[in-house]
Amino acid sequence: MLKGKRILLVIAGGIAAFKSQELVRLLRKRDAQVRCVLTGAGAKFVTPMALQVLTEDKVYSDLFSLTDESEMGHIQLSRDADLVVVAPATANILARMAAGLADDLATTVLLATDKPVLAAPAMNVRMWTHAATVANVETLRRRGIHFVGPNDGVMACNEYGPGRMSEPEEIVAAIESLLTTEKPLAGKSALVTSGPTREAIDPVRYISNHSSGKQGHAIAAALAQLGAEVTLVSGPVSLPDPAGVTVVRIDSADQMLAACLAAGKVDVAVCAAAVADWKMARPATAKIKKKAGAAPPALELTPNPDILATLSRRGPQRPTLVVGFAAETENLVANAIEKRSRKGCDWIVANDVSPSTGTFGGERNTVHLITAEGVQAWPTLSKDRVALQLAGAIALHLARPRPAEAAE
Ligand code: C5P
Repeated sequence: MLKGKRILLVIAGGIAAFKSQELVRLLRKRDAQVRCVLTGAGAKFVTPMALQVLTEDKVYSDLFSLTDESEMGHIQLSRDADLVVVAPATANILARMAAGLADDLATTVLLATDKPVLAAPAMNVRMWTHAATVANVETLRRRGIHFVGPNDGVMACNEYGPGRMSEPEEIVAAIESLLTTEKPLAGKSALVTSGPTREAIDPVRYISNHSSGKQGHAIAAALAQLGAEVTLVSGPVSLPDPAGVTVVRIDSADQMLAACLAAGKVDVAVCAAAVADWKMARPATAKIKKKAGAAPPALELTPNPDILATLSRRGPQRPTLVVGFAAETENLVANAIEKRSRKGCDWIVANDVSPSTGTFGGERNTVHLITAEGVQAWPTLSKDRVALQLAGAIALHLARPRPAEAAE
C-alpha cells in the first residue's frame, strides 16, 4: 500500500523520538521513501546519522543552510511528499503549528506544505490536557490536520494518563489509511449515532451518562474517509465535528430517533450512542423546588424508544446493514449474541466496559464483532483503529452481492 509513497517525517524533541526510528524502519520495510526533518530539540534524542542510515537519504534540520537550499529548497521539501508526519508532535511544535510560526525548518515546512499532515502527539499528561494544548489541537483539527493518538500509559516521567505517543505500528496504520486513495464506500450513505443522550428532569436538570462519543465519532470519520456520505447524530459531547461529515446535534433519545428517521434510507446504520434507557414520564416545565422538610421528589420514569431496534425493523426503509454496540461488564459474548437477536440488528460490536478496562472516555477499545457468521475477537486497538477496521468490514460487506442481485 505504501510502495513508492513519499513521507516527510518531522521529528520534534521528545523522548518518544526514539520510537520514530522504528517508524522509519517499518515504513522503509513497506517500500515507502522517508525523508526526515529533525528539529534542534529532536537532535538531542536521535542522531542525524542514525536517521540518515535508516532513510538512506540526507537528514534536514537547518533552515538557513545554503547547501540545503541549493540542493532542495525548503518549499520544495514541503511539497515533495505525499504526506507530512510529525512524530513525536510535542506540545511546543503543536503550539507553533497552531500559531502559524515558521521559526525553524520543521515549522517552515509545515506552514508551506499543501499536503496532508498527520501528527502523533507525545507529551506529559498535564501538557496534553492543558487548555492551551486542547485549544491548539482543536484549531489544528479544524484546519484538517490528522491525529493519531496519544495513548494512555505510563510515561517517561512516571506519570500515567494520555500523552504517550502511539506505537509505530499504529502510526503506520494511520499513514496507510490516509494514503489509501480507494474509496470503497463511495456512493454509499451511512448514519451513525454517538455520545450520550440527556433526558430532562426539569429545565435545569437531566439524566445522562459518561459516554464520550469518541468511538462513534471515530466511526463516522472512518466511514467518511472510505467515501461514504455520513450523517452523524450526536448527543452532547466535547469533541470536534469529524471532517466531511454532516453532524446533527440533539439532546434527548426522542430527538435522536427523530433525527435518525429524518436521515431517510441509508446503506448502513451504526448505533454507537449510549442512549439513556429511561426518560421522565412527565418532565417538569419549571424547576422543581426544594421544600424544607418535604420528601425528595419521586422521579417517575418511562422507557425511551430503542433507536437500534426501530432502525432494524424499519421494513423497506431498513438500512442494508445495521450495526449495534453492546457495552457489557460480564458475559460479554453471550450477552451480545442475545442482544443481536433481540434488537434485530445484523452485527454487534461488543466491548467490555468494566472500569478496569478504561474504555469509557479512554483512547483504546477491545471489541468482539458478532455477525451471523460468528464471533471475531479483535486485539486491543485505539478507538480510531477499531473504527477503521469496522469501516473496512462494512465496505466489504456492502460490496458483496445481495441475495436478490446474486439471483439476477
Ligand atoms: O440495550 P442496550 O442499551 O444495551 O443496547 C445497546 C445498543 O443499542 C447500542 O447500539 C445503542 O446505541 C443502542 N440503543 C439504542 N436506543 C436505545 C438503547 C440502546 O439505539 N434506547
